[in-house]
Amino acid sequence: IDVSKLRSATRGVITLDPGYKNTGSCESAITFLDGEKGILRYRGYSIEELAEKADFLEVAYLLIFGELPTKEQNDKFHDDIRAESIVDEDIKKIVDAFPKAAHPMGVIASLTSALTSFNPSSVNVNSEEAMYKSVVRILGKFPVLVAWTFRKKEGLPLDYGDNEIGYVENILKMMFRKPNGEYKQNKILVDALDKLLILHADHEQNCSTSTVRIVGSSHAGLFASLSAGISALWGPLHGGANQAVLEMLEAIKADDGDTKKYMAKAKDKSDPFRLMGFGHRVYKNFDPRAKIIKKAADEVLADLGVEDPILDIAKGLEKEALEDQYFVDRRLYPNVDFYSGIIYRAMGIPTDMFTVMFALGRLPGWIAQWREMRLRKEPIGRPRQVYIGETERKFIPVEER
Ligand code: ACO
Repeated sequence: IDVSKLRSATRGVITLDPGYKNTGSCESAITFLDGEKGILRYRGYSIEELAEKADFLEVAYLLIFGELPTKEQNDKFHDDIRAESIVDEDIKKIVDAFPKAAHPMGVIASLTSALTSFNPSSVNVNSEEAMYKSVVRILGKFPVLVAWTFRKKEGLPLDYGDNEIGYVENILKMMFRKPNGEYKQNKILVDALDKLLILHADHEQNCSTSTVRIVGSSHAGLFASLSAGISALWGPLHGGANQAVLEMLEAIKADDGDTKKYMAKAKDKSDPFRLMGFGHRVYKNFDPRAKIIKKAADEVLADLGVEDPILDIAKGLEKEALEDQYFVDRRLYPNVDFYSGIIYRAMGIPTDMFTVMFALGRLPGWIAQWREMRLRKEPIGRPRQVYIGETERKFIPVEER
């Protein structure tokens, strides 16, 4: 379909599909997923193979540009991103102005949006070259913003990373380096984070990605579109679920580990409580990312020798849900967020930073989807509605009402 010619071709027909459960919003060549079979592929490569063999920036390149990079392209991509890893000093003032208790998702959404003001030329994406510049700019600066968001929360000084080390390694170092410069690298954690970021890197037209595409379709800049995507990701029914999972597990622990009580609450239709980390709009048999991440979580905890009662509760809950008729009938399985929080927790990342880590992983996917939308010259996103309000009424002045 030549989407650029579809502008006025609505022909008066409107489909009503709340939640867009059966409505496609675009054609896309980026991510394939089959919810029935539990298949997820980026540009044709299986998530299992990528998680095992590729690194995060290679996957980012693949998603954004369509092919795995050659050695030369890979080196250039790294160099170009590194060259963009300095953030305007004035952004530190914005970070400082947030209350210490501010939710990190609100902070990172604001900082990402603010980047446009400090880099106004990035809105101009009229050539492939200009688009590339915006892409490497955000890939370079976003991890710094993430680290600063975290460090502000922890009361640590805001400083820069180490350009001599890998992208993912540098993220952890930027976050955890002590004020005296002390930092001990842990390869197991670096590898686990790399894997986690790959698993989160894209997931076709989910809520945040659709948001990035729809905001970008008005030709708002890349950073503004990403900021909107971050806000969409924040919600507990989407990316915020990883935080909600941990909070739920903590609540169960505080309640004498009574998983049965929470299972009953989740099934009780008069109670809005849902078992966080269970169910998925698309995956109805299993979430392939959850399988990979479950293994990674086991490895990290075994390697670090972490004994965590929260993990035992998670395992118990998983077992009960998989055997429960309510969950079986509705095909509700643990999703990726059920396990990611456990790994983040073992890394020492606080619960309210979990969704920020998700955003870090999803960044290449959002960029790829935005770029595809712009290159395909898609029309502005503008859903229709079926009006169910009052018919025409006469205005009555306030003193007569
Ligand atoms: N706990 C209890 N019941 C649930 C759950 C749950 N986690 N999820 C769905 N159900 C029930 C619903 O109540 C509904 O039951 P009914 O048919 O008797 O009315 C049925 O299963 C279908 O649920 P829907 O809400 O229609 O499914 P939908 O596709 O709209 O929602 C969603 C998917 C949002 C993921 C949902 O399963 C949910 O809220 N899960 C918990 C939050 C979560 O983990 N979100 C992360 C998603 S993954 C991600 O964003 C990376």
